[in-house]
Amino acid sequence: MKGSAARMAARRPALMGHEHMLRSRLAGTGSYLPEKVLTNHDLERMVDTSDAWIFARTGIRERRVSVDETSSEMGAKAAKNALKAAGLHPRDIDLVVVGTVTPDMAFPSTACFIQSRLGIRPGAAAFDVSAACSGFLYALDAADKYIRSGSAHNALVIGVDRFSKIIDWKDRSTCVLFGDGAGAVVLKAEKGRHGILSTRIHSDGRRWEMLYAPNTCQPSPFEASEPVLPYLRMQGNETFKIAVRTMGGAIAEVMEENGLKPEDITCLVPHQANLRIIEAIRERLKLSPDKVVTNLEKYGNTSAASIPIALDEAVREGRIKANDIILFVAFGGGLTWASSVVRW
Ligand SMILES: CC(C)(COP(=O)(O)OP(=O)(O)OC[C@H]1O[C@@H](n2cnc3c(N)ncnc32)[C@H](O)[C@@H]1OP(=O)(O)O)[C@@H](O)C(=O)NCCC(=O)NCCS
Repeated sequence: MKGSAARMAARRPALMGHEHMLRSRLAGTGSYLPEKVLTNHDLERMVDTSDAWIFARTGIRERRVSVDETSSEMGAKAAKNALKAAGLHPRDIDLVVVGTVTPDMAFPSTACFIQSRLGIRPGAAAFDVSAACSGFLYALDAADKYIRSGSAHNALVIGVDRFSKIIDWKDRSTCVLFGDGAGAVVLKAEKGRHGILSTRIHSDGRRWEMLYAPNTCQPSPFEASEPVLPYLRMQGNETFKIAVRTMGGAIAEVMEENGLKPEDITCLVPHQANLRIIEAIRERLKLSPDKVVTNLEKYGNTSAASIPIALDEAVREGRIKANDIILFVAFGGGLTWASSVVRW
């Protein structure tokens, strides 16, 4: 290769070549939302808020809440849909990775429950990843590395959360923001140019107090300190600013790594926390609104489930086609943040 072709290849490594590289192809997507709809007007009857305030500040009109379905039940339903879309049977799966911070139990993991619910072969590997709203991309990154190393062939990656269980329904500054749901993708090991090009995950534990939920375990009789309330707590305003800055940096990182320019991006599927955050990111990238997937108007912030639900809806609406370059970005408690680029 000479001259401009060589320069192109050096600048755009992911867009050129790599025909023989083992990658994780996204072979199928699925999602599941619980039936119960909780509108902003319903919330007006619960706390001192208004539909106008919630919609103007967040872009959310309604969200779903689970009445009695656990995270593993919702996750298994989303996974079933993803398996169907991929044309695979549960017996084909050798790895289950679940991003969640609202597991059914402290242990076993939600992944083990989902393995059992779906009838995935005993002996397959199954584990949870705790990274709050970045949970799906953390899980995706872990599964991708097992696949690229040859340790797994077909993986289920699930993002699920049931924040209705950890929210203080009397706190108007948080209870209007979140919803329950699950999303899943099937990753298949394949040689070629399609699949996950790269994923980057980051965390900064120093700033955990920005956004956290204490655990709900019973106080031990030996404990000296007063028991704390189990509810989610967030410094909304500060979190907002950090989220915009951090997600912008995470996007720049994976774009640079893959030699991508904004015009190469076919579709941005961001974590659905706040429409104003998504708009700020979109403007930075100078992407047209039709290239950005948003569904938080219907579901609010479903934490680890938000990216795979939005991806599944975009796929089923026919918005994503072969060879499209898809960009994912997330931010959450930890603090954690992550980004990923996929060639469909
Ligand atoms: C939560 C969030 C919507 C609040 O919007 P904001 O513009 O920052 O609003 P503030 O927190 O500054 O509050 C502004 C006012 O609205 C009030 N308010 C808060 N929640 C309200 C509600 N549900 N209804 C009506 N008023 C509300 C506040 O009490 C405050 O009143 P004051 O000015 O009299 O003190 C916004 O900060 C946000 O989205 N943050 C990021 C959240 C996020 O991304 N979290 C998850 C990351 S995964």
